[in-house]
Amino acid sequence: MLETSQKLSPNGLTAAVVTLSDKGAAGERVDESGKVIRQMLEEAGYEVKEAIILPDDFEQIKTNLIRLCDEVRVDLVLTTGGTGFSKRDITPEATMVVCERNAPGIAEAIRYHSLSITGRAMLSRAASVIRGDTIIVNLPGSPKAVREGLEYALPHIHHGIEILTNKTKECARK
Ligand code: MTE
Repeated sequence: MLETSQKLSPNGLTAAVVTLSDKGAAGERVDESGKVIRQMLEEAGYEVKEAIILPDDFEQIKTNLIRLCDEVRVDLVLTTGGTGFSKRDITPEATMVVCERNAPGIAEAIRYHSLSITGRAMLSRAASVIRGDTIIVNLPGSPKAVREGLEYALPHIHHGIEILTNKTKECARK
């Protein structure tokens, strides 16, 4: 991670972070994962427009995802938490309901990469979708899982945003 004194070079893209946690929203748990995401986004040059904590409530998640895509109009929304098998874990369902076009490869790639670290990665039901000009990606709830997933996926997501928003038409082969 960067020291705060290090200069960041903006990449011209905007993002929002949504933490899904009943305990976090009630002020009973510190939101470490949201902090990790914000820091990694800023290190990559994103301007983080919002970082919010919500309970695992379907309507609140849905309403806020729509607002961030359609009104705040960020390029990227990263959620953390609520992707597992607990009955309260409904982030993927709320994400799929706001989905206009499915983009399953991002969530699949994060799971695939994460499986080389822990078999428990198979227990994340995370989704990734497109709504308008915004990409939404679900990440698991632990700071470790967030870091492992984003280290791998963030550079590729950047290219996806450029294509979605017509900032590039070229796919330089990497
Ligand atoms: N992915 C990575 N890279 N590293 C991890 O430690 N933990 C897994 C999985 N994905 C993990 C991971 C575990 S233990 C669970 S239960 C699921 O994510 C779902 O997590 P969530 O319910 O917090 O979203």
